[in-house]
Parts: sequence; structure tokens; C-alpha cells
Amino acid sequence: MAASPILAYDVGGSFVKAGLVNVAEGRLAGEVLRRATPADAAPEAVMDLLADMARELPSGGPVGLAFPAVAKRGVAWTAANIDKRWIGTDARALLEARIGRPVAFLNDADAAGVAEMTLGAGRGRDGTVMVLTLGTGIGTAIFVDGRLLPNTELGHLEVRGMEAEHRASAKVRADRGLDWPEWAAAVNEVLAAYHALLWPDVFVVGGGVTENWEHFGPLLKSRAEIVPAHFRNDAGMIGAAMAAAALAEHRSAS
Ligand code: BGC
Repeated sequence: MAASPILAYDVGGSFVKAGLVNVAEGRLAGEVLRRATPADAAPEAVMDLLADMARELPSGGPVGLAFPAVAKRGVAWTAANIDKRWIGTDARALLEARIGRPVAFLNDADAAGVAEMTLGAGRGRDGTVMVLTLGTGIGTAIFVDGRLLPNTELGHLEVRGMEAEHRASAKVRADRGLDWPEWAAAVNEVLAAYHALLWPDVFVVGGGVTENWEHFGPLLKSRAEIVPAHFRNDAGMIGAAMAAAALAEHRSAS
């Protein structure tokens, strides 16, 4: 595993974060840059921002990019909470061309899940683990005996006639002014729907809102075990950096 810190980004509907990650220890190796997602969050505007952030965080080697969309072979295929012009965009090729370094491009919840399973709340867990990120949307990552099923997108599962993320994301709580018990009840409906279909052994609940775990964590209920994410809001960056390190190893071995 690469010893020098790896540059990683987590692009969200509201903020873009960048940091240097010590992958072996699973921690940020310095300050995290946090910028509002450009109002015109089209690919070019976001790429400009990512290139600026790379200049502010001098580093070398591969780069990780966690993104809030279906991510397959470098291309974004959906855009629920980001500009629609991303659909069909080869984000990996664009960023590689901008910064001249190899890029690992993956879904943000999958990235968070990789971090949690490798060194966080899901470490050493077998069976079915479902990692959730509650933020602008709801991200999901499913692991079976530690192996990821990528791009599950269950934030869009319909629960009683409404998409899960329109019912219970952290943004919904803020937008509708829900108190913690009201919001926890909405999250519980989503957990019940996921459980009925997938029977996970454990839900790892992440996203920035978990800073308030004491207000809502004890109110969450499921037949599966429920644990808070370890990396909280940094999981996307840390997991993206892990994916970048794996990419570098893979390339040097082939
Ligand atoms: C997107 C997912 C993403 C999740 C969390 C959803 O709206 O479709 O790709 O993982 O939000 O950002």
C-alpha cells in the first residue's frame, strides 16, 4: 500500500471536499478543504474546482474521486443530486487529463462503505452489511462477506409511494424542520423496507448527520443490528483514497 498520502475528493450535492489521506492508518493527513458545490455544477465547473484543490494540496500518485452517482468504468450514469450534464460523462478521463494522474472513480456511498469495511465500523464483519450515508440524498453500499456489490442506489427505492431519500435523507430533516423523533421514524421506515428485501445482518449508518448520533441513534430500530459509521463525514474521502491505492497496486502488478 502506498506510503505517501493520497489525494481524495468527495463530491456532494452541497459541498466538495478534498484531503490527503494516510491510507494505512485510515485518517486524513492534514486539513480538509471544503467548498460549496458550484451553482453551475456542470462537469467543467467541478473539474476546475478539483484542479484548484489539487494545487492547494500538493501530492503525487493516484487520486480517489467519490461521486454521488452510478459510477462504472470511469463514467457517471445518473445525476439525482448533481447537474444532469454529468450523465454519460467520463469523469475519470476528464480528471486524469486535468491533473495528469491516475484516478479511481467510484460512487460516494461505495467509497464510504469501503472505508467502513476496511478500517471502520464494518471491519471484520461477515454476512450482509449495508452501509448507508444520510446526506443530501441517501447512499447505499452492500457488502457480502466483505465484497462490495457496487452501485446499489437504494436511496431511490420507493417506500410507501415516495423515494427513500425524499422521505428520510438528512436534507429532508433540515428542509422540513423535522425533530429527531419524527426524522428517526422516517429513517426506520426506510430501514424496514431495506430489511424486508435484503435481510442485512447490520446497518452501518453514516453521513454528516451522525455527529448528532446521540439524538437519533437510540431511536433507530430494525431487526438487523444498527451501528454508527466510524469515519462519519470523512468516509467518502478515506474510501476513495483506499480505492486509489488499490488501483496503483493493481497497475504496478500488471
Ligand atoms: C445518488 C447516489 C448517491 C447518494 C448519496 C443518491 O441520490 O443517486 O448515487 O450515492 O445520493 O450521495
